[in-house]
Amino acid sequence: MKAKNEMRISFPSSSNNEAFGRAVVAAFAAQLDPTIDELSDIKTAVSEAVTNCIVHAYRDTIGMIYINAKYDDRGTLQIKIRDKGCGIEDVEQAMQPLFTTAGEERAGLGFAVMESFMDKLRVTSKPGHGTTVTMQKNLARRVMKNG
Ligand SMILES: Nc1ncnc2c1ncn2[C@@H]1O[C@H](COP(=O)(O)OP(=O)(O)OP(=O)(O)O)[C@@H](O)[C@H]1O
Ligand SMILES: [Mg+2]
Repeated sequence: MKAKNEMRISFPSSSNNEAFGRAVVAAFAAQLDPTIDELSDIKTAVSEAVTNCIVHAYRDTIGMIYINAKYDDRGTLQIKIRDKGCGIEDVEQAMQPLFTTAGEERAGLGFAVMESFMDKLRVTSKPGHGTTVTMQKNLARRVMKNG
């Protein structure tokens, strides 16, 4: 993707930073003039990815979360959320709806939510090294009838 604009931030995986990460990405995405629904989809997807870094990647520790977002001149927004935590052994299995390693306390729906609210989702991971979640949403304004 040829970026028309881009930004990057990093912050520690403390739980109060979940809302911070979501708000920063929303402020960046707002430049593409999204609908309320589109913005809400993006915030929910970012929330799920950042929460996964906090609760899974760094489990009982605190580590850095890296967010990188950019968009091109066609209105495609790409968001990358990366951690240097425990990694995922089997990404395909982890992405199955209802799969969780957290027992009763989690639903196992985070990846399913990201997948349905965004247009593209890619997850790469290296056990012991970390995980990168890349998502895209196409925010190009629809062509309206009668102009
Ligand atoms: N960043 C990550 N680092 C390490 N493991 C992860 C990461 N993200 C997800 N996982 C693994 O993938 C599983 C599925 O993630 P998903 O977000 O779909 O469900 P969940 O977090 O378990 O539950 P929910 O999101 O519904 O609260 C997790 O249980 C965890 O084992
Ligand atoms: Mg989750």
